[in-house]
Amino acid sequence: MTTPTEQVLVLAGGLSHERDVSLRSGRRVAEALRSTGLEVVERDVDASLLHVLRSETPSCVVPMLHGETGEDGAIREVFELLDIAYVGAAPAACRTAFDKPVAKAVVAQAGLHTPASVCLPHETFRELGAAVVMSALVARLGLPLMVKPAKSGSALGCAVVRSADELPSAMVNAFAYGDTALLEQFVVGREVAVPVIDDGSGPRALPAVMIRPDGGVYDYTARYTAGSTEFEVPAPLDPGLTEEVARVALAAHAALDLRDLSRSDLIIDPAGQVWFLEVNVAPGFTETSTVPLAIAAAGLDLGKVCASLVQAAVTRGTDRPSARTL
Ligand SMILES: Nc1ncnc2c1ncn2[C@@H]1O[C@H](COP(=O)(O)OP(=O)(O)OP(=O)(O)O)[C@@H](O)[C@H]1O
Ligand SMILES: [Mg+2]
Repeated sequence: MTTPTEQVLVLAGGLSHERDVSLRSGRRVAEALRSTGLEVVERDVDASLLHVLRSETPSCVVPMLHGETGEDGAIREVFELLDIAYVGAAPAACRTAFDKPVAKAVVAQAGLHTPASVCLPHETFRELGAAVVMSALVARLGLPLMVKPAKSGSALGCAVVRSADELPSAMVNAFAYGDTALLEQFVVGREVAVPVIDDGSGPRALPAVMIRPDGGVYDYTARYTAGSTEFEVPAPLDPGLTEEVARVALAAHAALDLRDLSRSDLIIDPAGQVWFLEVNVAPGFTETSTVPLAIAAAGLDLGKVCASLVQAAVTRGTDRPSARTL
């Protein structure tokens, strides 16, 4: 038997670097849910949140928080503590997925391909001497290489390094977003984003979205400036590759123990090898985000999809029934 959904609380904003993106995603999801007749309130993350969650007792929270606040699992621990159902992966799975080096290790163990990489905390870099570490990095990974914060989103702090003299500033930029940098072999190829949704009937991959940024790099501006990136959905891939990118996204979703919704970012190299870059547990739903495009391309209605995720979360309840006795 399913529990009736009374009020849905869409949580957006927060204090991460991706606050603006989150507010836009939250607004879009809230409107989509309202279009299905659900009662929806939109709330930000601030000191009043616990009080709001206790007094408004929503039957489900939809966390549309990107970046650290929303994707590292912390806020979901709070929902578990309060025994409030929510859409998306459990805290432990979020922690694994949000940490790119850890997620890469998990999916590699599951047999997926992910670019060769080195993960370097700021401290090691400083202690051992930046110059010697950097020359070893270039020797190991080759050029170009990709530098990114181990934990971040929206391509913030990410840079392509094409010559060794660009590496120091790229590292400084990555360290501005966290104390560990991930350096990866740069994969030349076609980029696709592949969402996976599970409304209770099992995970399924949505059509892949091919991403072609105007300037060649899918950076923050390319992501959130309308018209600056060209998307093609379904991605123009031959049937074998269409199946393969769906398989990889589903395998990453399963290996990382995700649920409800995820979006894997993949690159297909010229030999047809699919490389896993990362997975997002709270993907964007803005006007320029890929998940809503994939939902539309699958012939689905955004509101109905969001409502079915809410219903599945309400039916599941929280992971820890013992929380009720706290
Ligand atoms: N190894 C790589 N080779 C080539 N391009 C890469 C590589 N890693 C990242 N990129 C490019 O940089 C972009 C940002 O990287 P990534 O998806 O890992 O970061 P993110 O900040 O978590 O982004 P998101 O907004 O998707 O959460 C990718 O969309 C891709 O265009
Ligand atoms: Mg990404």
